[in-house]
Amino acid sequence: MKFTTSSAAVTAAAALLPGASATIYYAGVAQSGGEFGVWSADATPGTGLPGTFGVEYQFIDEAGVDTMVDQNKVNLHRVAFLLERMCPPADGLGAKFNETHFDFFKQSIDYITTTKGAYAILDPHNYMRYNDPSSQPYSGSIIGNSSDPTAATTAQFGEFWGELAARFADNEKVIFGLMNEPHDMPSSLLLDNLQAAVDAIRAAGANNLIIAPGNSWTGGHAWTQGGDEASSKWLHKLVDPANNTAIDIHEYLDQDFSGSHTACTQDAATNLADVTAWLKEHNLKAFITEFGGSNTTECLDMLDSMVDYMADNEEYIGWTAWAAGPFWGPNSPCCTDSNQYGSLEPGSTAGDGTPGLYDTVWLPVLQKKVPAQLQWDGPASVEGGELTEKA
Ligand SMILES: *[C@@H]1O[C@H](CO)[C@@H](O)[C@H](O)[C@H]1NC(C)=O
Ligand SMILES: *[C@@H]1O[C@H](CO)[C@@H](O)[C@H](O)[C@H]1NC(C)=O
Ligand SMILES: *[C@@H]1O[C@H](CO)[C@@H](O)[C@H](O)[C@H]1NC(C)=O
Ligand SMILES: *[C@@H]1O[C@H](CO)[C@@H](O)[C@H](O)[C@H]1NC(C)=O
Repeated sequence: MKFTTSSAAVTAAAALLPGASATIYYAGVAQSGGEFGVWSADATPGTGLPGTFGVEYQFIDEAGVDTMVDQNKVNLHRVAFLLERMCPPADGLGAKFNETHFDFFKQSIDYITTTKGAYAILDPHNYMRYNDPSSQPYSGSIIGNSSDPTAATTAQFGEFWGELAARFADNEKVIFGLMNEPHDMPSSLLLDNLQAAVDAIRAAGANNLIIAPGNSWTGGHAWTQGGDEASSKWLHKLVDPANNTAIDIHEYLDQDFSGSHTACTQDAATNLADVTAWLKEHNLKAFITEFGGSNTTECLDMLDSMVDYMADNEEYIGWTAWAAGPFWGPNSPCCTDSNQYGSLEPGSTAGDGTPGLYDTVWLPVLQKKVPAQLQWDGPASVEGGELTEKA
């Protein structure tokens, strides 16, 4: 909620001067649906677990992915899943997976990467919590909380990532998103958990691109806030022996950066100036894997400016807008004060049958900002790869 002006705005303007080489290599949408079906109004643990694939949850709609890749020319999908479905609580977090669930997930990732030739971010949508998603984003034990005997340990988080990474190590189009939106936890523990994951991934022989989130919901505007707990005090300490880790940022444009309100009032260029400066200082690259706005004139203008800001600043190499997904129906993934304005899923309609956010936000604004040239071959990398138009 802190709106900084003046010096931050000047820095942002300076970064837009011609001559800076800046490139977006990866662009697309978040696919939200794998995490559906576990919420409980009275927070009953275990609600919707394991859930029925195709009924209560599903990762992607293949026809929607076809439209996104073939017509919209996007090369990136971020695919949400739940740790409690991949690793059922009876067994605990770790290397033992529900193979049936994993197979469903792998089919979706293979469809995006092998069939469609795009890149996919694996997104454990768990807020650095495990064992009770019934009241996400607040329920569940914080991974690595040694005061909580029911919490999964940092080592278990590493074992989980080591196993998942081994299974995708031979697919260079798979990107490992270590965790969705950690929040309200010590940043030292966040760093320990992220380091355990990176170490396990590399020990498994996987050199895939990793993206690592900060604390405070990985909010870009909040990156340098919070004193000693600020993400800017911790995330550059993450060590990757393969030098292939980027920062994962989320940024919404509404008053409290939550992505829940219709009105856009928070200018991204202004609010991202500090994290952009931090990225530059530490020679780091970043993805913005969640951002969005409603279909108001202000939101459309501000979303347009936000994507320009990423394109104009070399620290940013990729983005996914929130969100498409198979099960939104007329509901909205963000930014509508709970009005049913539909989603970014192709063909989406609003509750009143009028066109959904795919038609009112994605096509008029975001689709036009998908770079004509993106990376379509080779390993996902902090360095990016060869840029070509989609074949
Ligand atoms: C594993 O996942 C499948 C598919 O969702 C489900 O039918 C099955 O009950 C799950 N098993 C456990 C132990 O959670
Ligand atoms: C860790 O667990 C203890 C015991 O359940 C709890 O009191 C504490 O709030 C937890 N820490 C955090 C950061 O939530
Ligand atoms: C990673 O970067 C460091 C510092 O620039 C360098 O010494 C090291 O050789 C690099 N490692 C790899 C695997 O590229
Ligand atoms: C946004 O979309 C909804 C659903 O079509 C519509 O009711 C509303 O009027 C639109 N808002 C604007 C500002 O166009």
